[in-house]
Amino acid sequence: MKHTNPVIRLHPDMIHSGQLVLVNQTNPVVTSLQDCRLVPLTTIQQAGTEEQELRLNQTCLQQLASLLEACHALENIGVVSGYRSQEQQKHIYDTSLLDHGAEFTASYVARPGESEHQTGLAVDVGQLLEDVDYLCPSFPDHGIYASFKQLAAEYGFIQRYQEGKEHITNIACEPWHYRYVGVPHSILMEQHELCLEEYIMFLKQFPFGGSHLHTKMNNQYIEIYYIRAEDIETWLPIKSDSKYEWSGNNSDGFIITMFHEQEQGSQ
Ligand code: DAL
Ligand code: ZN
Repeated sequence: MKHTNPVIRLHPDMIHSGQLVLVNQTNPVVTSLQDCRLVPLTTIQQAGTEEQELRLNQTCLQQLASLLEACHALENIGVVSGYRSQEQQKHIYDTSLLDHGAEFTASYVARPGESEHQTGLAVDVGQLLEDVDYLCPSFPDHGIYASFKQLAAEYGFIQRYQEGKEHITNIACEPWHYRYVGVPHSILMEQHELCLEEYIMFLKQFPFGGSHLHTKMNNQYIEIYYIRAEDIETWLPIKSDSKYEWSGNNSDGFIITMFHEQEQGSQ
């Protein structure tokens, strides 16, 4: 969602759309199918056969393909799971409860409506093997898999459920589950060692009208701030020569990311 326009007008419903939406037990998914912008896998292989017609958000898929190419992993890593509808997530959840019990399911399967797979921005990747474990696919921490993990943030991805963050995410460590949030957010999250719940809170320290977050990446001056959604419409002035992206946080406001060619003042 990049534009060059002097004003941003954001409707309150838009807090549920965008690459930074936080989906978890307290912030269920509200994104519509249209927002997901789903496309079928073409250049990337599927690992396992559990999901028919695998689809992902278009940008997420393009970036994943570039990431796999960059770490020469197109023949080693495939997609196990992509977009899931509410019904699919319910089926996965119910089946897991029957097959593996409540404790396992609470650790590894989000309740229907609370899975970020329902946004099209989450992808489970796995080793291309004969037998793939659908819920916990093998994703080793060495070789090409380690390269994937190391390069992921450069392509906009984060390992969403990391060891040590279980008390915040309420999900066990999942080395196979990647979430597309886009650059610069993936890189900032990695630098500050923040999971998405923490990052969304962290950004509230940089409100519109206060000090914004400034960083430089790839020769661009990047400015990030948070703005609470107004009841009718949130209206923001934008410098016409700067590119910007907006995303809802799926709770109460928006994160605005601006890409400047030149260094900005302190705000
Ligand atoms: N495995 C993750 C938590 C999901 O079901 O969305
Ligand atoms: Zn997953």
